[in-house]
Formats: sequence, C-alpha cells, structure tokens
Amino acid sequence: MEEISTLEQLNCRAKGGSPGFKVAIVGAAGGIGQPLAMLMKMNPLVSVLHLYDVVNSPGVTADISHMDTSAVVRGFLGQQQLEDALTGMEIVIIPAGVPRKPGMTREDLFNINAGIVKTLCEGIAKCCPNAIVNLISNPVNSTVPIAEEVFKKAGTYDPKRLLGVTMLDVVRANTFVAEVLGLDPREVDVPVVGGHAGVTILPLLSQVKPPCSLTPEETEYLTKRIQDGGTEVVQAKAGAGSATLSMAYAAVKFADACLRGLRGDAGVVECAFVASQVTELPFFATKVRLGRTGAEEVYQLGPLNEYERVGLEKAKKELAVSIKKGISFINK
Ligand code: NAI
Repeated sequence: MEEISTLEQLNCRAKGGSPGFKVAIVGAAGGIGQPLAMLMKMNPLVSVLHLYDVVNSPGVTADISHMDTSAVVRGFLGQQQLEDALTGMEIVIIPAGVPRKPGMTREDLFNINAGIVKTLCEGIAKCCPNAIVNLISNPVNSTVPIAEEVFKKAGTYDPKRLLGVTMLDVVRANTFVAEVLGLDPREVDVPVVGGHAGVTILPLLSQVKPPCSLTPEETEYLTKRIQDGGTEVVQAKAGAGSATLSMAYAAVKFADACLRGLRGDAGVVECAFVASQVTELPFFATKVRLGRTGAEEVYQLGPLNEYERVGLEKAKKELAVSIKKGISFINK
C-alpha cells in the first residue's frame, strides 16, 4: 500500500499537483476491455488504473503497465479479488459480459449479462458506492435498470452516478453524417437519444451541428445506418464478435468527459442513458451535463420534426419493455 501511495504522490507531483482519478475497468481482458485499458493508461487524468477480469487480467496488466505514462496499473483476477479491485475507485467502467454470437438468442445474452452486471453492481455498492459507473455491457437498455435496482436495494443509489454508455451511437452518427456532408467528423455533433438497441437508437438529425439540411432520403439512410451500426460490424466480423475497437474509443471519450466533469470543468456535455424525466419512461438517453457528482443536468429533447416524433414513439415502446425486463430481473 505504501509503495502505491508513494507512486501516487509522484504522479501527483508530475502533474503539477493535479491528483488524477482512480479508475477501474471490469472485464478488462475482453475485446473492448483491452484497448480500453490501453487508452485509459494514456489518459493524464487517470492516476490509478485497476484492471479486473475473471480470466487473463494478469497478462493484460503486465503488458499495459510497461507503457511509459503516469497511471499506476494493478491487475485483479477472479471473484475473490473483485472487492480489492473496486475499493476506493472513483469511476468504474464495465465492459464485462458476452457479446452476441451466431446461434445465440437475445434471451441468452440477457440472462448471462444480467447476472454478471448484478454481481458487479453488488460489489460496487459495497466497495465504492460513490463511484461513477459507466455501464457498457449489453443490453444497456436493461442492464442500467438492473444496476439501479441493485443499488436501490443496497441503499446506495444515486441516479447522477449511473450512466449507460451510448457514446458509440454518437461516434457513429458523427462519422456517417460527416461522410454525407463532406465534413471532418470532429466538427460534427449529432445528438442521439432514446436507448442503445435498434429502433431505440434515435439520432436527432434536425439538430445536427453545424446546421445542415438533409433530404428525406439522406435522413432515412443515416437513421437506419446509425441504428444498424452494430450489426454492420457483427456481420463484417463474421462470428468473431461485435464492435470492440470503436467501442473502446467511444468508452474512453465518454470516460474522459466524466473525468473532466469530476475535475470541475464547466460545460462538459455528452449523451448517456440515465434516469430521466424527459419522457414518461424512468430511463432515457439524452444529452447530460457531467460535473463533480456525475450527470448533474439532464437536457430536454429540444424541437423534433415529424420523422423524429414518429421515431420517438417507436423507441419508447421498445424501451419500456427492455426497462421493465431489467427491473423485474432483480425483483422476480
Ligand atoms: P468479450 O467477450 O470480448 O469480453 C468480455 C470480457 O468480460 C471477457 O474478458 C470476460 O472474461 C469478462 N467477464 C465475463 N464475466 C465477467 C465477470 N463476472 N466479471 C468480470 N469480467 C467478466 O466481449 P466484448 O466484445 O468486450 O463486449 C463486452 C460487452 O460490451 C458485451 O455485453 C457487448 O454486447 C457490449 N457492447 C456494448 C456496446 C455499447 O455501445 N454499449 C458496444 C459493443 C459491445
């Protein structure tokens, strides 16, 4: 322990007094987990990086720890080390669980990942109840309600600190819209609201920045492509998994926004699937302002056009079922 605190002090000094934050990645040896761990090790706002998995985390940790960046990396393997991995963490990023494979039903995926998320959230409630949770494990539309119920039962639930990661939908939307408009994707900002599956992914193309006017055909093409972006990757990988590299990029983009919010930066705004009063549903993805205590402000949808209003109704119908499924998994 003493060794770590000395290293932390050194890190602190190296950054001119900025302490950095303690981040855990749970599922760190997976397809998303590994590149995510690498990118987080490169983030100057991270002082301590805990890498937890039920397999292979020692190897990933040894590998990542040789990178000459300041974050101190520690590995944790198996359920018996989960509590050590989580204790003292300020952000916990969860890409643990199975991705969809050929021959597997959605029900199979839900059942496996729901149980994993439940166990991990019980650990968070016990060991780092004030951590900001970035939940990546699918189906996000159900795993976030599962996490909420676990935290409620433990008496630690704070809606500001539970964030379902929908950043990949935004990243894809920015890329695809930029392609159509002939712009640099870094200059494009597309709000994507709703949830993180099929028709629940609702890009608000009428609110794209910089302002643009898309034809009905372009709107239809872009909406479908953004909604089916995951399937595009699953098909191209032909059975070898789902999006991992673009997801790790998106997860880091989102975690970095959370870190900047924690640091007290003003005006940090990203989309996330959070507890919400924007619609009649208890959870909904919209833009949120990230601050010292998590999602401090949940923004309204803004003006929608007719195409988006129809999309919103479809999204809400499917979301309601997924949210209910998550909640009843814990309360059955
Ligand atoms: P993967 O199978 O490559 O990696 C998952 C990792 O989780 C493995 O290393 C596995 O050992 C670990 N794991 C399993 N049970 C665990 C437990 N109880 N505790 C800790 N770790 C555990 O899968 P991949 O491709 O990394 O995907 C992970 C999850 O992320 C999937 O559920 C996938 O559907 C989801 N995903 C979410 C996206 C989003 O936009 N939110 C986008 C892409 C994937």
